[in-house]
Amino acid sequence: MNITKTTPWFLLLLCLILLTVYKFQIGLDYKRVNGSISPSSEQPQEESIMFGFKPKTLFVFGDSYADTGNTPATFAASWRFPYGITFPGKPAGRFTDGRVSTDYLAKYLGLRTPIAYKWRRLVLPRKVVKNGINFAYGGAGVFETMFKVVPNASVQINFFEQLVRKKVYSQADLNSSVALFSIVGNDYITYDRLNGTSQGRPALIRRVVRHILLDVKKIRDLGVRKVWVALSPPQKCFPSLITPKGCDSNDTSTNLHNSLLREGLRKLNDERNDKSFLVFDLYNAFVSVFKNKGVPGVSKFPEPLKACCVGLKRGNTCGDVGKNGEKLFSLCKDPKSFFFWDNVHITDQGWRSVFSLLLPDSQY
Ligand SMILES: *[C@@H]1O[C@H](CO)[C@@H](O)[C@H](O)[C@H]1NC(C)=O
Ligand SMILES: *[C@@H]1O[C@H](CO)[C@@H](O)[C@H](O)[C@H]1NC(C)=O
Ligand SMILES: *[C@@H]1O[C@H](CO)[C@@H](O)[C@H](O)[C@H]1NC(C)=O
Ligand SMILES: *[C@@H]1O[C@H](CO)[C@@H](O)[C@H](O)[C@H]1NC(C)=O
Ligand SMILES: *[C@@H]1O[C@H](CO)[C@@H](O)[C@H](O)[C@H]1NC(C)=O
Repeated sequence: MNITKTTPWFLLLLCLILLTVYKFQIGLDYKRVNGSISPSSEQPQEESIMFGFKPKTLFVFGDSYADTGNTPATFAASWRFPYGITFPGKPAGRFTDGRVSTDYLAKYLGLRTPIAYKWRRLVLPRKVVKNGINFAYGGAGVFETMFKVVPNASVQINFFEQLVRKKVYSQADLNSSVALFSIVGNDYITYDRLNGTSQGRPALIRRVVRHILLDVKKIRDLGVRKVWVALSPPQKCFPSLITPKGCDSNDTSTNLHNSLLREGLRKLNDERNDKSFLVFDLYNAFVSVFKNKGVPGVSKFPEPLKACCVGLKRGNTCGDVGKNGEKLFSLCKDPKSFFFWDNVHITDQGWRSVFSLLLPDSQY
């Protein structure tokens, strides 16, 4: 969910860097078609148990838990070493060492990872865009966050609406599509950073959840058949916040957010008498991983609350370098044995574990 500070020379360098990055991303995407997360090497299921039909298109809205490269390289750690070291072996705009939720969901559906919104014009075959688009940006919330330039969820949905208006997607395309909506905490991180009070928090949580419900309803109303909505993970268990005693996974703020969201989604489903909205239960997946130190048969995390990549000093985070290029972070030897990658994001193996719990009919 986190991105680092904007640099003042951002605008000057943006063009140059984007050009470099475009080339890289296209390369990456090409590789991916024939590569290890390619559907062609899999046996996609005829019908996913999760969604009840065979989705052909995936749209993603969200923050760094779902971003696959939208956030510009100039201020996102996701484009710096050691992000991406496990997959594809170099930074790829993902806030982890490898794949994120979007990649794992696409794989489950037997689809390619949808193209990041920012590259949509650069991919020639329309087929690629037909496969879906990822509108998620690291740092995004439902409201404006401390990462001011990042498009919030409403703006991401507007991008989608414009494409629907332009008939990039037919009604039939939309009717065989699913969306992942994953906004899990930047509104709260921003509130804390602005020294928000604990008395004001329940009201903020209510506003955030109300807005999430409006957002997902809008996605549904634009024609997407099913929307998978992320709950908040246990916010107090991020490595930066844990104490020597561990963490409180049963905190009232996370519980309020999640119970209001579940209740709201249930109401939306009742209104239409269909099951358009499904719960992406990050909360219980995280708690299960903490309790079992992994997922039996999938992963082992001896210290599930510790991050693989951490700043050396207060104020430093994973990926930071000093004036002379010296690393200001420490990196674990084996990211596969860590659930958390950095202070807020989970590893490739962490996401694999979460998906193995939430989509048990899948094979990872
Ligand atoms: C996959 O690789 C083969 C040969 O290496 C190539 O002919 C084909 O076009 C590639 N597929 C895509 C979709 O790029
Ligand atoms: C989202 O961002 C846009 C553009 O900055 C802003 O106009 C809008 O009010 C924001 N939406 C919400 C719900 O805060
Ligand atoms: C979408 O597809 C389902 C299943 O084929 C069908 O029942 C439904 O009427 C379709 N909805 C629209 C809006 O086309
Ligand atoms: C929040 O509080 C800290 C410590 O009291 C202070 O240094 C900081 O400037 C405050 N931030 C804002 C945005 O008010
Ligand atoms: C969480 O806390 C609430 C109130 O403190 C309690 O009623 C509930 O049983 C707890 N849930 C779990 C799973 O421990």
